[in-house]
Amino acid sequence: MKILGIETSCDETAAAVVENGQKLLSNAVLSSMDLHAAYGGVVPEIAARSHIEAITPVINQALETAFPGCHPGKQWEQIDGIAVTYGAGLGGSLLVGVMSARTYAITKNKPLYAINHVEGHIYANFLTETSLPGYSLRAKQPEFPMLGLIVSGGHSQIVLWKNHFDYQLLGQTTDDAIGEAFDKVAKLLGLPYPGGPSVGKLAQSGDAKAYKLPKAKLKEKYNYSFSGLKTAVLRLAQSEIGEDHRFPSFKVAERLSEAQKANIAAGFQHTAVETVVDKVLMAFEEFMPKSVVIGGGVAASPELRKQLAQRLPLPIDYTDPKLMTDNGAMIATLGCFHAMHNKPTADPYSLEITPNLSM
Ligand code: KG4
Ligand code: ZN
Repeated sequence: MKILGIETSCDETAAAVVENGQKLLSNAVLSSMDLHAAYGGVVPEIAARSHIEAITPVINQALETAFPGCHPGKQWEQIDGIAVTYGAGLGGSLLVGVMSARTYAITKNKPLYAINHVEGHIYANFLTETSLPGYSLRAKQPEFPMLGLIVSGGHSQIVLWKNHFDYQLLGQTTDDAIGEAFDKVAKLLGLPYPGGPSVGKLAQSGDAKAYKLPKAKLKEKYNYSFSGLKTAVLRLAQSEIGEDHRFPSFKVAERLSEAQKANIAAGFQHTAVETVVDKVLMAFEEFMPKSVVIGGGVAASPELRKQLAQRLPLPIDYTDPKLMTDNGAMIATLGCFHAMHNKPTADPYSLEITPNLSM
């Protein structure tokens, strides 16, 4: 079972081929991140335009890498189905991937599988084999029950899977995703986008205990929130430079010393990560899963890995960092499971995007 996965929900145009939900045959990704960096975040119109230019070459590259030396017509003969992200994500961006997938499904006569992007992030952890250079995959597929933590720029969820396609959303952020909070704090501190790696780097030279920052307490026990923390970081930065809440946030960075910035970065990072790890630990103790898997760009955070290793009794096996950020392989992997479990296919003449698709 070989599935072509197509992913265009945000700023990565991505396509990949995966066999049997386990073996990575190719993984082509073209990011428009550099085009957004000047604006401190993803600009939806720029992302959609970049997808239009990139989608066909990226799909072709995924097929060529998966079936080297094969005539293009023969490459398609080996594909058993097409999986595409239809939500959640940016409307214009999703449209490009979905329209391409629909067109190929019709013209190449392949079954089409509509994939939820957030579920896809977790399925990157099912890849255990590849002959592609430069990948370090997990040794084994995760076992059920599986506790999944999705931490990305757009999503922050804790989900319990009893089996494939049998899951329960335990909790999620009530406002910003954790990656988004990193990106906004980076902007405040004058650090480059994406904020996760730049805040993490600066935090290394800071003292996480220099300032006291709040963790939100919510009624729903597995939900969490970052808006209070984000405001607390802004207020702290304003007071450190001797200004009050009226002082504009975009002028704060130039007045902070390097030491103040490093301490704020460290304090924010520690608190944001601890907020999520507290919930994972609670869910672990309540449901006693056989595996805990992490998906999404923030899974690359050394601070997250450190806190999980210190507090969770179960060691976590991570997938390759290239498969944590948005990619087509995670969509193709979940697509394989849709096909292998005989899940309904999508109608290539009518599949629509669902930008605010939930789990
Ligand atoms: O999964 P992803 O590529 O895109 C979405 O689906 O949103 O995640 C991107 C997010 C960004 O917010 C970025 O700041 C964050 O992941 N990120 C990190 C790290 N690398 C990327 N956050 C913390 N530490 C990192 N090393
Ligand atoms: Zn994502």
